[in-house]
Parts: sequence; C-alpha cells; structure tokens
Amino acid sequence: MSGGALPLRVILGAGDQRWPGWQPTQRSELDLLDPDTFARFFGGRQADAFLCEHVWEHLEPGEGRQAARLVARYLNPGGFLRVAVPDGHHPEPSYQALVAPGGPGPAADHRVLYTLETFAPLFTAAGLKVRPLEWWDRSGTFHRAEWQPADAPVYRSSHLDHRNESWRQGRGPLGFTSLVLDAVRP
Ligand SMILES: C[S@@+](CC[C@H](N)C(=O)[O-])C[C@H]1O[C@@H](n2cnc3c(N)ncnc32)[C@H](O)[C@@H]1O
Repeated sequence: MSGGALPLRVILGAGDQRWPGWQPTQRSELDLLDPDTFARFFGGRQADAFLCEHVWEHLEPGEGRQAARLVARYLNPGGFLRVAVPDGHHPEPSYQALVAPGGPGPAADHRVLYTLETFAPLFTAAGLKVRPLEWWDRSGTFHRAEWQPADAPVYRSSHLDHRNESWRQGRGPLGFTSLVLDAVRP
C-alpha cells in the first residue's frame, strides 16, 4: 500500500461471503487456475491481503501448487494470504465423512484432503512464509496460535463457527474447524 490508498484486500472464491473491508470475488473474476484473470483484475497492482476459505480443496494438488505461486506473485511484500481448508487430521468420523474427496453431498467436488504437513509446502514452495493458525495433529490434538479473526475472518474456525459455540463457552467439544494458515510474502 502507498500514497494513503486503502489496502487492497481480496476474497478469492467468495461465494456468499461478505466481510467489511474485503472485496469479494468469484471464480469468473479471479480464477486460481487462470493467470489471465489475475492479470486483468490487478493490472499493475498487487494485493495487500487475500482471504480464501474452503476453496483450495476444490483444486487438484498440482493445480493447488500453481495457484499458490499465482497468489504469491500478486501479493505485496509483507502481504499475506489467509487460507482455510478442511483438516485431514480432524478426529471426528462425522467431520471426515463431510469433507472426504468425492464423497456424497457437499464434498462431491473436493479433490484433496490436506493436513498441515501436506498443505504448508504448497506455500513455502511459492516463496511464502507459513504461519499455522489452527490445525489438528496426527495424534488428534487441536492447536491454535494467537490470531485475530478481525484481521481476516475465517468463518469455519474455532473462533467464529456456530458449531463451536459450546466449546467457546467451555461446555463442549469442538465441532467444525479448518486447517487455517497465513502465508506471508517476505
Ligand atoms: C465451498 S465454496 C466456498 C465459498 C466461500 N469461500 C465460503 O467459505 O463460503 C467453494 C468456492 O470455491 C470456488 N472455486 C472453485 N474453484 C475455483 C477456482 N479455480 N478459482 C476461484 N474460485 C474457485 C467456487 O466458485 C466456490 O465459490
């Protein structure tokens, strides 16, 4: 950002998501698989931040790696991508049934199920520095770094999702979470 302009904060694959201060875009405007759409949309500009919730799992793994490079190219130095996908280490069978690639229902067009170990390398390979925010480890323990949804909100997270209300009140287990990380351009 320079010259006092407002930061350019862009939601990728927004669907119905709307957050104050963020410009929602759909695949028709910014397609993670089509660099031409980024060239047209940004012209000579760069984004200060991208937000992308539950989109990367709709890409094949190779496409996901290319998409990480594409997004990195359009980030200002110091800018970040906050990205969330279903978490392959979430211990609940009912969660896994919901997110399994090719499964029935909403996940029918999921192509991949990531864990922190398999997702983070997409972004480090693109030259970004990864900071995990929420994830399950392979032994079934949930981890959460200090992060503020106000900086870049992820609805399907421990902080915001309605299915985690009783957990937030200390009265029940976690419900629906995501693997959430920041990928920062140095
Ligand atoms: C499960 S919806 C999530 C929508 C929204 N981000 C949310 O969290 O509610 C998946 C979204 O990914 C978008 N999408 C799929 N492939 C995409 C691509 N190649 N580039 C950009 N968006 C894509 C779809 O259009 C759809 O809006």
